[in-house]
Amino acid sequence: MAKSDVKTSLLDNMIGVGDSVLLEPLTEDTFLENLKKRFDHSEIYTYIGSVVISVNPYRPLSIYTPTKVEEYRNRNFYELSPHIYALADEAYRSLRDQDKDQCILITGESGAGKTEASKLVMSYIAAVCGKGAEVNQVKEQLLQSNPVLEAFGNAKTVRNDNSSRFGKYMDIEFDFKGDPLGGVISNYLLEKSRVVKQPRGERNFHIFYQLLSGGSEDLLRQLKLEKGFNHYNYLGLDSAEVNGIDDAANFRTVKNAMQIVGFMDDELESVLEVVAAVLKLGNIDFKPESRVNGVDESRIKDKNELKEICELLGQDQAVLERAFSFRTVEAKQEKVSTTLNVAQAYYARDALAKNLYNRLFTWLVNRINESIKAQTKVRKKVMGVLDIYGFEIFENNSFEQFIINYCNEKLQQIFIELTLKEEQEEYIKEGIEWTHIEYFNNTIICELIENNINGILAMLDEECLRPGTVTDETFLEKLNQVCAVHERFESRMSKSSRFLNDTTLPHNCFRIQHYAGKVMYHVEGFVDKNNDLLYRDLSQAMWKTNHVLVKSLFPEGNPAKMSLKRPPTAGSQFRASVATLMKNLLTKNPNYIRCIKPNDQKAPHIFTEGLVRHQISYLGLMENVRVRRAGYAFKQLYEPCLERYKMLCSQTWPHWRQGARDGVEVLLTELQIPSEEYSYGRSKIFIRNPRTLFELEDQRKRRLEDLATLIQKIYRGWKCRTNFLLMKKSQIIISAWSKRHFQRKKYLRLKMVTLRIQSYIRGWKARKLLRELKHQKRCEQSATTIAAYWRGTQARRELKRLKEEARRKHAVAVIWAYWLGLKVRREYRKFFRANAGRKIYEFTIQRIMQKYFVDLKNKMPSMSPTEKTWPARPYLFLDSTHTELKRIFHLWRCKKYRDQFTDQKRATFEEKLEASELFKDKKALYTNSVQQPFQGDYLEISKNPKYQKLNGAVEEKILLADVVNKINRANGKGAPRIFLLTKSNFIIADQKSGQIKSTIPVMDITSISVSKQTDGLFAIHLKEGSTAAAKGDFLFTSDRLIEIITKLYRTIFLKTNQKIAVEINNEFLVQFNQDKVCVKFIQGTQKNGNLPACKRKNNRLLEVTVP
Ligand SMILES: Nc1ncnc2c1ncn2[C@@H]1O[C@H](COP(=O)(O)OP(=O)(O)O)[C@@H](O)[C@H]1O
Ligand SMILES: [Mg+2]
Repeated sequence: MAKSDVKTSLLDNMIGVGDSVLLEPLTEDTFLENLKKRFDHSEIYTYIGSVVISVNPYRPLSIYTPTKVEEYRNRNFYELSPHIYALADEAYRSLRDQDKDQCILITGESGAGKTEASKLVMSYIAAVCGKGAEVNQVKEQLLQSNPVLEAFGNAKTVRNDNSSRFGKYMDIEFDFKGDPLGGVISNYLLEKSRVVKQPRGERNFHIFYQLLSGGSEDLLRQLKLEKGFNHYNYLGLDSAEVNGIDDAANFRTVKNAMQIVGFMDDELESVLEVVAAVLKLGNIDFKPESRVNGVDESRIKDKNELKEICELLGQDQAVLERAFSFRTVEAKQEKVSTTLNVAQAYYARDALAKNLYNRLFTWLVNRINESIKAQTKVRKKVMGVLDIYGFEIFENNSFEQFIINYCNEKLQQIFIELTLKEEQEEYIKEGIEWTHIEYFNNTIICELIENNINGILAMLDEECLRPGTVTDETFLEKLNQVCAVHERFESRMSKSSRFLNDTTLPHNCFRIQHYAGKVMYHVEGFVDKNNDLLYRDLSQAMWKTNHVLVKSLFPEGNPAKMSLKRPPTAGSQFRASVATLMKNLLTKNPNYIRCIKPNDQKAPHIFTEGLVRHQISYLGLMENVRVRRAGYAFKQLYEPCLERYKMLCSQTWPHWRQGARDGVEVLLTELQIPSEEYSYGRSKIFIRNPRTLFELEDQRKRRLEDLATLIQKIYRGWKCRTNFLLMKKSQIIISAWSKRHFQRKKYLRLKMVTLRIQSYIRGWKARKLLRELKHQKRCEQSATTIAAYWRGTQARRELKRLKEEARRKHAVAVIWAYWLGLKVRREYRKFFRANAGRKIYEFTIQRIMQKYFVDLKNKMPSMSPTEKTWPARPYLFLDSTHTELKRIFHLWRCKKYRDQFTDQKRATFEEKLEASELFKDKKALYTNSVQQPFQGDYLEISKNPKYQKLNGAVEEKILLADVVNKINRANGKGAPRIFLLTKSNFIIADQKSGQIKSTIPVMDITSISVSKQTDGLFAIHLKEGSTAAAKGDFLFTSDRLIEIITKLYRTIFLKTNQKIAVEINNEFLVQFNQDKVCVKFIQGTQKNGNLPACKRKNNRLLEVTVP
């Protein structure tokens, strides 16, 4: 829509007057006229201030399109022509922006359009509040709860084809942003009697028809239902089909809605099963059966229906059948079972059907609540929408109408309280000049009904609880007694009744003058309906089913939870819930929609003036307009008012330091608002005209925009500046760092270059210096060398000169000596001529010899015979003399040495000499013996007492005594023997005993044989034929072989003067007895020291192994 097309005031293109407050003159006629005019021009909404009057058009209008929604969105209430959207928008914005919980109260009689209005409000709010997948789902669920509840709770009545047969209050919950979070639905008293019976021209609840029309064949078969409404007793026949209602299509809508709301498939199935069961319950018929005792009993006519119901509900047929035939009364722990007659059985059947359906409905509401409840625990803002059944006057009004009308009475009371009474009272309280406007206050009617002591509901409860026979008639009687004098109560029964002659009032009725008109109530059924009794047998039977849903609907049927306490009556329950509702509504900011029904034909374009006039009257609309006109459209405490508008005045903005009232005064004066437009109350400012308020609001809005721009400007400036400063700071830091970096790089490069140049220069300088130093050194060296050479040359030249000089001098001297000699010889030649030469020679020789001997005497070597040195020969000619002298000196020296010897020592040396002659360089053993002195007697025979006897046996002087090994001739084994040598014998004695074994004269020894080796074996060969030689030659071994043989040799030489042969050979022969045995020495491994091992090999051979 182009901007220019947008309406800016409800006054634009106005038909009649949009706001009745502006009506001039204001009378009921003009008011009605105005409504009619507007209605005729399809303007169904008219304001009284902020209250919306809605006249039901009974036809679809094109004023609920999305463009309309956009048009009314965020606009001031009076800006556009009156619309329910304007009210919804106002309420929603107050909720969202001012944080005030709202409620929308929709009142009007049945068929006036309340339910439609509530749906319009909800759809508008759904359209304007937050968007997003989650929010949309919440919205969708909230909206879709409507078709479900309508299907089960609405029915066609004579007044309304889609009449709500229950009261509904829905709280929609929002978060702080205004996004919907969820909702809570409360329901009030379903008109359940409709389930079993409907007044003429009306229908049962929609769902039954929807199910039968829309259910598929499969579904119906499954639910054991037949198509056709006429099969079911509970469905009134006369108006089953309703023009303009497509039950089949609605059934699909309902199923779809249930899915969206979140019903599971099995839940839907269960619900339909219960619906089917209720429908079929109506078809159970009973027949009387007389008993012998005269008692009538009822029997079920056709058990097939019962069987199918039981199958549907998972019920035991016998249990249900019994529950329809007996009633158990429990009194003082006694159970009494009585049989039911036919009427009672029907009553039981209907009670069950009603209860089943009612409980199912309550369950549905709870189930929907479960789905739509807000998922978060955050603080919520709430908008309540109340759509309660409207005021009803039927031909035959019963308990339900009584309750419904009571509820409407209460709502009217709230309206009066808030719009008429309180407002006027407040003006007076605030000290505003005010002329009271009369209005009808319906408190008196409410009191008549709900008073705790003598109210009708209290009477009814009292009657229900009273022992004894209680009937509707006794209840009426009681009413007549208590209420007869009440100005709003009419009855013919009481004696003093003002209505004794009123024939329009039947005897079984009472009449109440409601705010909306007189209603006559038939007392029939009041007690029953208030009691709302379901035989315990039935609830217990129901609890026993396998059907989860049905079982949960009858918790009191659980024997474990059974209580004897009566449940609260329907009336008192309702009264309590209405009281709660009223309390709830009073906490919220109310928004009113007052619905008016233009005709009774439910037809468009018909405006029945009488009907409307009546509604205007009982709704108190005229009073409403009057109060509005005289009063003030808007009131507010000074503080919040100043707080809200203080930005409009330079004096109060931003801070006002004085009282709030003064502030508001300054504000309004400065804004140049005409003084008749407002009044100052004690604590509140009252603004007469909404337009003034809207002007203020507009100015505020503009100012807020300016302020927002200012804040934005300052914030942007601040933000930019902070950003700039930050960037500047960053830039400085970055440039500092980069400068540092580049300077550092440059510096390092310079440093490197400098260092390089420096090093080159230093190098160059150093090399130069080195060159110079080298040069200098070379110069010095050259100088030294030159000097040295020069000095050398000088020295050599000098030496040469000196040598030359010396040679010359020597030459001169020689020449001179020769010359002198020559001169002397020439002179003395005449004196030496004959022998002087010889004499000089002799003298010279003499001198030389003399000197030689003197020198020799001084240089004489030592006297040791082993000394070999001799002074060097001085003159060649003394060579032979010198050698001879050496020899003589040695001999002399030896002689001198020998002269020192004793005899014994001499003998010893002689022996050693002898040994040397015998063995030196012949036998290897000899070298060992050289340094061993020849002791001779090793056994000390003469001193050792052990050898005393032996010593005694030997007469001669013992030359040698030692222990030797005598080799056994036969096997070569050795045995120790004492070997003694005297001048003439050698004696062999036993080593231990000293017993002489044999004495052999030395003369019998012919020769001695030894080997060349280091062994000590020796053979003593004896003269053949001698006594000693009887056994043959001796073989001995001894370490002292050299001494023994030397001594033997010398002894024999001294005795016989013959030198015996000492054979030294590695193989020799010995004579053993008659045999000549060869003794052979072979080299072997060392076994027992130096002693050779002898082994007689055979007759001819004795092997000696020498180590
Ligand atoms: N604003 C409207 N526009 C068109 N038809 C309406 C409007 N309000 C009510 N109706 C018609 O009036 C009938 C009854 O309205 P409803 O809201 O059910 O009445 P109530 O709830 O007050 O008993 C609706 O079924 C509908 O056909
Ligand atoms: Mg309704």
